[in-house]
Amino acid sequence: MHAMTAENLRTAFGGESMAHVRYKLWAKRAQQDGFANVARLFAAVSFAEEVHASKHFKRLKEDAGAFSVTAGGGFGLGTTAANLANALAGEAYEVSEMYPAFLEVAHLQGEQDAVKSFTYAHETEKAHAMLYRRAKEAVALGQDVELGPVYVCDHCGWTIEGEAPEKCPLCAVKRERFVEYAS
Ligand SMILES: [Fe+2]
Ligand SMILES: [Fe+2]
Repeated sequence: MHAMTAENLRTAFGGESMAHVRYKLWAKRAQQDGFANVARLFAAVSFAEEVHASKHFKRLKEDAGAFSVTAGGGFGLGTTAANLANALAGEAYEVSEMYPAFLEVAHLQGEQDAVKSFTYAHETEKAHAMLYRRAKEAVALGQDVELGPVYVCDHCGWTIEGEAPEKCPLCAVKRERFVEYAS
């Protein structure tokens, strides 16, 4: 694999791994703050980030060894309102800067597996940003977010509220592959 795409995959792996853990911690805090649906949303998205991290990691199977990984990640364990603002900023960065840039390089280098992995994450982060925005607006009013069941595709991380689709719109696996986060 080209060195630059490999480095971008490691960076994305680092970012997604941190997001996975960070959202778990923020889910606990949301539960403590009395926002059960926000907690459920953080838990679902945390799983999606684990799926993305795993995908990026597997793409790197030929690039074994120890590397220093530089990856941006939000820190802080504040109120749920602050954590949602932090989460939204992270997703927005991935949507508007990180994944578009990584995708350009992967395309340029003909790294089709990486293109797929980055696309799965990029498309999913758009959905995460929308869900977090809604949650942030509700919590700003002192309310829990209204949220139906949330489904996460265990193959590509695609995240959807309401009903699991017959087929994943992003990776085409069947409905059975969706993990449900219901209240
Ligand atoms: Fe995300
Ligand atoms: Fe999928």
